[in-house]
Amino acid sequence: MSFHAELMAKIQDHSAHVGVLGLGYVGLPLAVELAKVGFHVTGIDVTQEKVDLVNRGISYVLDVPESELRPLVESGYLKATTDFRVISTFDTVNICVPTPLRKTKDPDMSFVVACTEEISKYLKAGTLVILESTTYPGTTEELLLPTLEQSGLHVGEDFFLCFSPERVDPGNEKFQTRNIPKVVGGVTAACTEAGALFYGQALETVVPVSSTSVAEMVKLLENTFRMINIGMVNELAMMCDRMGVNVWEVIDAAATKPFGFMPFYPGPGLGGHCIPIDPFYLSWKTKQAGIEARFIELAGYINGQMPRFVVDKVADALNEQSKPVKGSHVHLLGIAYKRDIDDLRESPALDIAHLLQERGARLTYSDPYIHRAEHKGVQLQAMEEDQALDEADCIVIVTDHRSVDYAKVGAKAKLIVDTRNAMKHVKGNNVKRL
Ligand SMILES: NC(=O)c1ccc[n+]([C@@H]2O[C@H](COP(=O)([O-])OP(=O)(O)OC[C@H]3O[C@@H](n4cnc5c(N)ncnc54)[C@H](O)[C@@H]3O)[C@@H](O)[C@H]2O)c1
Repeated sequence: MSFHAELMAKIQDHSAHVGVLGLGYVGLPLAVELAKVGFHVTGIDVTQEKVDLVNRGISYVLDVPESELRPLVESGYLKATTDFRVISTFDTVNICVPTPLRKTKDPDMSFVVACTEEISKYLKAGTLVILESTTYPGTTEELLLPTLEQSGLHVGEDFFLCFSPERVDPGNEKFQTRNIPKVVGGVTAACTEAGALFYGQALETVVPVSSTSVAEMVKLLENTFRMINIGMVNELAMMCDRMGVNVWEVIDAAATKPFGFMPFYPGPGLGGHCIPIDPFYLSWKTKQAGIEARFIELAGYINGQMPRFVVDKVADALNEQSKPVKGSHVHLLGIAYKRDIDDLRESPALDIAHLLQERGARLTYSDPYIHRAEHKGVQLQAMEEDQALDEADCIVIVTDHRSVDYAKVGAKAKLIVDTRNAMKHVKGNNVKRL
């Protein structure tokens, strides 16, 4: 029997030993879904604390309920380790490690490279390797393939290699790992076939594409589309502000058009691990091909202006009350990068805090999901929401968590700068919208 046939049979009868490298927002939910359908899954992470929590059945990812994780761990279907030698027992390996940008906006592939080198050391014939980390087009074949072939094994015959973009949307109650369609593209047709069969065991819809580069580009198209449209609407918000037009009302009315329009909303800036970062993977790569990604650069510039725009709004609002920014107490209500999640990465709240601190504001924050806020040299002091509503000179809504009672905020706060239109039902002079 060929290695391909053997692998396909093991996937089909769920006897394949599944490995997931990187147990974060992407890797842990995937590991859980695969274990739920009866695969024996081993997660590898370099963070001992996460490995220990998984092995105790304790979830640190909001979208993974403990009621799902714990029974899988107790029944032996899911476990975690820091020991990469276990890769030699894997039939499939998913790579879900971070792909941040360096300060220069160049891709930092060090995590992916480190994983690939470990896999190459222990790769056995008949294994399926799938990269899920978001990256520039060409990564799978230019970076992973040569390293993996150093093992002496040949792709498409001895081992199988795919790229499958991760589309998880933390905090989204409707669409989660299981029901988000999964795009997968392999180096060869046999690779794609194995990848599609593998995901088809646990996920509702699989979308095979013809190559790894197509699969890589799909993710970049999706996130670039969002980033550029958000940039466009942020610029519109700044124009509307100058002209005294309510941008939120404009968008809501435009959204009544039943075709040819999709609403995007302005905000305090881009956050999270995808939208502000991924498009720069594309622009970095296309620069090498002599094409400048001008839409991306422009949207990046406009979105990058938004924290300063918010701070100017705060200064103007305080000024109307004859208060300087310096010495005023400004409270950030909601600092996660988007609603209903506990992720502070790249959150515009950090830039806003930094700019306000530069101008001498006294800063506090409250966020039902973020209990400690220390980042980029900014250390934010937590304060109970009720106390802040009584004491702060200005409340800035950076994130609009569903659990916050905005009617109460509107009734109690002296002054509010609302960057998310969370106060849309509250009228009054104390509310300044973006
Ligand atoms: N979070 C999202 O919403 C999201 C959505 C789509 C795509 N992505 C992409 O998925 C990838 C992973 O993102 P994430 O949010 O899960 O990151 P994360 O930081 O939550 O998790 C990554 C995990 O990898 C571990 N790790 C680092 N180096 C390792 C190594 N050499 N071997 C094993 N483990 C290692 C880290 O300890 C961490 O637990 C990134 O490329 C990201 O851009 C993320």
